[in-house]
Amino acid sequence: MEPIAKSGSNMLHGKILATLFFEPSTRTRLSFEAAMSKLGGTTIGFAEPKVAAIKKGENLADTIRVVENYADVLVLRHPLEGAARLAAEFARVPVINAGSGAEEHPTQALLDLYTILKEKGRIDGLNVTLMGDLRYGRTVHSLAYALSLYKVKLFLVSPELLRMRREVSDVIKKKIEIVEGSAVEEVLPETDVLYVTRIQEERFPDPAEYAKVSGTYKIGVDTLEGAREDMIIMHPLPRVDEIAHEVDNTPYARYFQQVWNGIVTRTALLALILGAKK
Ligand code: NCD
Repeated sequence: MEPIAKSGSNMLHGKILATLFFEPSTRTRLSFEAAMSKLGGTTIGFAEPKVAAIKKGENLADTIRVVENYADVLVLRHPLEGAARLAAEFARVPVINAGSGAEEHPTQALLDLYTILKEKGRIDGLNVTLMGDLRYGRTVHSLAYALSLYKVKLFLVSPELLRMRREVSDVIKKKIEIVEGSAVEEVLPETDVLYVTRIQEERFPDPAEYAKVSGTYKIGVDTLEGAREDMIIMHPLPRVDEIAHEVDNTPYARYFQQVWNGIVTRTALLALILGAKK
């Protein structure tokens, strides 16, 4: 799909994608929209539930049963865990989960895997470090599940309060080796892929809890002294302060390449789901 995502195609001509975004998003929604228009399809939807009928008290199941009449595929982002699963139970058209609360973000995991494969030439045999908010960050949950299908060693680096959710680590540790810790410097010499995330401030039930961890980790040029020469740094974005801007100019940074890889991955996903590719 790389050349198709660049030059465009008509393979989804006449198909409609509905984006139902109940939570703020710029990149994921625009990425799906761009992917759909690259394939010749069109997009409808809302990014601001305040202006939609939801404001009038409509429930999610009803919204889904209405919108499925307008579209061939639905892309849903919702603050509640399980929302995408619920939508898929009601919908007669395919539902893509574009983020379900702090739970999962599977299309981000696909584009992350694609980025690793493209940049490192393989996934098996790599040491991957997931660093940051492993408790409330949904991208790291989906990525951890995905990586556990390969032969990787996973370092999980976070402040104590933001350790990987037990429900995720219990599943993945049956399949791959995981090592939990708090000091990124200790694992950098062994790391092939460093995946950094922001602290998900909006998901903390208690602001005092957030205050305890805010600003507790940051990757700067000095942090990278012990890193392997061919290590890559990834981030799902948006970034707050966890990667210093000077790092952008080092050969390690790949987080802006990830954005393009997101379009490629989503064109592939839409073409498959809508039957334009086998
Ligand atoms: C992520 C998300 O929404 O979970 N962003 C994204 O989709 N690229 C990560 C984040 O918000 O920190």
